[in-house]
Amino acid sequence: MNEKVQAALNAQINMELGAFYTYLAMAAYFESEALPGFAAWMHHHADEEMMHAMKIYDFVHRRRGRVLLTAIGAPKTEWASALDAMQAALGHEQKVTASINALVELSRAEGDHATASFLQWYVDEQVEEEEIVDAAIQKLRRIGDFGPGLYMLDKEMGEQAGGEGEAGEEDAS
Ligand code: FEO
Repeated sequence: MNEKVQAALNAQINMELGAFYTYLAMAAYFESEALPGFAAWMHHHADEEMMHAMKIYDFVHRRRGRVLLTAIGAPKTEWASALDAMQAALGHEQKVTASINALVELSRAEGDHATASFLQWYVDEQVEEEEIVDAAIQKLRRIGDFGPGLYMLDKEMGEQAGGEGEAGEEDAS
């Protein structure tokens, strides 16, 4: 396959695996803060990133390209609050969105329409990813320092993680 596109897809695999690592570190942070619902939600989100990486991994191989894995940096491990962590997650998603958009543009410029078409799934997925993280941020902002509110939201996030888990399994089949 086109070498420039292949290199950019490999970089995207690295970025998705980096997102997996970052969100798993956030899940561990939430566990340490006794927020099991947030931890389950973020763990589920981390699993989705692994799935995003593997979809590209499979696509490159289907095109008879070469996947080359590279180092993933150590993730941050501490955040000031649940709100701080979720804001960092949104910032990360925005970087992923920019990277996907650049990848679509490169594919088109190189005349690789198959890759541009494949990436459309990621373009749509990023809208949802930013939306769900932003929804949690808005709720956390409303709650502020109100402990019982955080307790209730943690329960809600845990329920969402369970629901999304079932939907994710359907997607995978
Ligand atoms: Fe794979 Fe959350 O972007």
